[in-house]
Amino acid sequence: MIVYKDLLDLIKVTVREDIQRINAYPVSKSANYIKLDAMESPYDLPKDILEHVINNLRKVHLNRYPSTDKSQLIQTIKEKFNIPCEADLLFGNGSDELIHLIIQSCCRPGDVVLSPSPSFVFFEMASQFNHAKFVKVDLTEDLQLDTNKMLESIKQHSPKIIFLAMPNNPTGGLWDDDDVLSIINMAPGLVIIDEAYYAFNKKSWMSRLNELKNVLILRTVSKIGLAGIRFGYLAGHHEWISQINKIRPPYNINTLTESVILSVLDKKHILDEHSSKILLNRNKLSESLKKLDHVKVYESYGNFILIKFDSNVSATNVFNELKFSNILVKDMSTSHTLLSNCLRLSVGTDSENELLIETISKIISKK
Ligand SMILES: Cc1ncc(COP(=O)(O)O)c(C=O)c1O
Repeated sequence: MIVYKDLLDLIKVTVREDIQRINAYPVSKSANYIKLDAMESPYDLPKDILEHVINNLRKVHLNRYPSTDKSQLIQTIKEKFNIPCEADLLFGNGSDELIHLIIQSCCRPGDVVLSPSPSFVFFEMASQFNHAKFVKVDLTEDLQLDTNKMLESIKQHSPKIIFLAMPNNPTGGLWDDDDVLSIINMAPGLVIIDEAYYAFNKKSWMSRLNELKNVLILRTVSKIGLAGIRFGYLAGHHEWISQINKIRPPYNINTLTESVILSVLDKKHILDEHSSKILLNRNKLSESLKKLDHVKVYESYGNFILIKFDSNVSATNVFNELKFSNILVKDMSTSHTLLSNCLRLSVGTDSENELLIETISKIISKK
């Protein structure tokens, strides 16, 4: 028997080396901050809807595993989110879990997952965890899709899976329909259109699912007011969904999540009202940001805005000073060369946005 000196030695020879080398998904401590870093909705449920949710939660049997009959949930999600009736659905513990399942079910070690870059960091993380090779295709200098480069890269790498976040996190851009179609037509495998932010622009590929045989659409309720319940869905042809479903952990949607989503979707108008308010606030925030000196504002179709400071101002200093003033945003400066000196600001309530603008303006004027 091998005798290990201590626990760390044992871990060193047991845990995958690539996992030992990386850091866990970074989530900032946020208690007591004005939280504008994670694209959540700033609006919680109103009291009467919360009461309705709680009343239904009283009927849940916590001693039992969740029911495997998802027909009511499937029908409700289809109705409330305009999903074609022919499409099938797979549910995930957040869309993060679905990203994992898609890669796990399609990629053998070394198979390629491809995505524009910068984009949602979890596409790369989930690829690595599942031993897939992640190929990034840089956006253009002005953070638009480089379609020719994408097409060349698809030809060169034959990706099993292409992820297209539309709108794109963290840039906020939305890709042109014809460009996306040319990528879909060239793709030798699956194209995942991630519509996490579709509520803030209403543009969706959902109605085209039937005609597009190699496309699945990924959505989440995290950005429309329900980040806490961890619920995402993948829509597409039954043949795809039934394959990916095989590796879904049993009971991945817990009883509480299922009850809450059904109760809230009974009153979905409130989520829609909040999303409309966020969309208006985004446009107002964007206009106010454009009036600031030293700031470039990228057009956003999501519930967040990417800004870049010129060389007179350091984004990281602004981030730190905002944090000192109790406002938490996301410093993107070191995440990608195209994002140097950039901050990503989630859209908050009217008063939060006003405070944000006022504070950034004061910080900049001190330079
Ligand atoms: C493009 C995109 N997809 C998926 C997610 C993850 O969503 P969920 O909370 O459902 O895991 C995010 C979260 O920021 C995102 O930006």
